[in-house]
Amino acid sequence: MPVPLFHATPMVCCEAMDHRPIGLFDSGIGGLSVVRQLQRLAPAEPLLYFADTAWFPYGPRPAAEVRKRAFAITARLLQSGVKMVVVACNTASAAALEDLRQAFDVPFVGMVPGVKPAAASSRTGRVTILATEGTLDGSLYSRVVADFGGSARVSSVAGTGLADLVERGETTADSTERHIRGILEPEIAAGSDTVVLGCTHYHFLADLIARAFPGAAIVDTTEAVARRALQVLTDNDARAPAAASGALDIIVSGDRAAFYRSMRRIGFALPVQEVSS
Ligand code: DGL
Repeated sequence: MPVPLFHATPMVCCEAMDHRPIGLFDSGIGGLSVVRQLQRLAPAEPLLYFADTAWFPYGPRPAAEVRKRAFAITARLLQSGVKMVVVACNTASAAALEDLRQAFDVPFVGMVPGVKPAAASSRTGRVTILATEGTLDGSLYSRVVADFGGSARVSSVAGTGLADLVERGETTADSTERHIRGILEPEIAAGSDTVVLGCTHYHFLADLIARAFPGAAIVDTTEAVARRALQVLTDNDARAPAAASGALDIIVSGDRAAFYRSMRRIGFALPVQEVSS
């Protein structure tokens, strides 16, 4: 089926400075992991984050449905004049990244599970990829495992229920740690020494995973994705001036108060600017 074409505001070639925001989206709070990395690495860059909480969770939804959301959200972000889109969600990247690149005239950066660094650094040769069902079912994931898994034994584990706990801001609760143990214990017992966070929500569980399985290496690609986004902007001469004050604007498709409560619980300072969806 042909992919509909949407045309974004054209990028101005060779412009030295670009005040437009970087657009990012996820089903909820998970993509704030990439926001946090961008704020740390490039505090001058303005950010516009779309939290699609009305459609949370993406993980169990059919890929076509997630793809439809990704297209609608991208169109909304472009309406607000973003200069690039970071698909800060592994599930949406699996469902839509390639089609988005074909359809919209703006640079995209997406999430890919860190199979390569995990396979390269594992001492036991056995690594665990923790991701949503949607990510694990996608062809992007099987391609990455085939291309970069090398000789490592790669085991795919669905983090059922974990994104929900993060979405509610329960990132330090004992009950969340028990849930993580239930999912990962068989993997660690079988000799896995490396856990790949293949869902942006899981970034906020890294401390609990480390506490539950001391010694296990945790692979998190959120910083690499933020660096990649900044590199793409630099290559396009589209970085914000260093003296700019990079604000964080937020669009929430569902319950805003609940989203801001969870943001606070995972350590984000408010206020941020609210934008209507
Ligand atoms: N944060 C998302 C991901 O990276 C999805 C979580 C969900 O909505 O199921 O896959």
